[in-house]
Amino acid sequence: MSRFANKVALVTGAASGIGAAVTQQLIDDGATVVLFDLNAAAVESAATALGDKALAHAGDVTNEDDVKAAVDAAVAKFGKLDSAFNIAGLAKIGTITDGSVADWNATVSVVLGGTYLVTRYSALAMRAGGNGGAIVNVSSLNAHVPLYGGSSYAAAKAGVEAFTKNSARSPEQK
Ligand SMILES: NC(=O)c1ccc[n+]([C@@H]2O[C@H](COP(=O)([O-])OP(=O)(O)OC[C@H]3O[C@@H](n4cnc5c(N)ncnc54)[C@H](O)[C@@H]3O)[C@@H](O)[C@H]2O)c1
Repeated sequence: MSRFANKVALVTGAASGIGAAVTQQLIDDGATVVLFDLNAAAVESAATALGDKALAHAGDVTNEDDVKAAVDAAVAKFGKLDSAFNIAGLAKIGTITDGSVADWNATVSVVLGGTYLVTRYSALAMRAGGNGGAIVNVSSLNAHVPLYGGSSYAAAKAGVEAFTKNSARSPEQK
């Protein structure tokens, strides 16, 4: 019940699916959570249902200002940020030749670019807080197993895994 007592978390993709389930579990374990999602209506209603330990923040993980604002909201409302969960995802399916360039870019931008931006601004807030922190990134089986029509998704998730390993590198290991 108290594994996350007094901890403040930011969860992207919190309005639906895995993000909503992780958010519920964090709150059940004692955390306070900023729910960050592109779907403004869904994230508002999810946060309202969770009560005063939840704060909705509508925004786009690919937009630097939105990401910064979500992290700032966590610190302003709850005093700090202890953990971030990069769960927002998108998979625009289309083959390399027949899918659109816009769809390829959208998938890579949300999955990989969003993970980078949220990690960047969360890490800055954690460093400023002086108490460390943890960042959890969600990959996919498709980082390792090809998905027909899913080259953008598979490549972006493989990128998330490489990015995560780099993120975990300490200055002493450089
Ligand atoms: N569901 C699966 O079987 C599965 C398997 C492997 C990995 N994953 C990964 O788990 C994560 C969650 O998957 P899910 O099935 O719960 O997905 P979902 O579609 O139910 O939820 C994704 C959420 O992300 C939000 N989102 C999308 N683009 C966004 C953006 N630009 N900014 C902010 N929020 C945005 C959506 O509004 C939605 O609420 C994704 O990263 C997905 O790739 C899912």
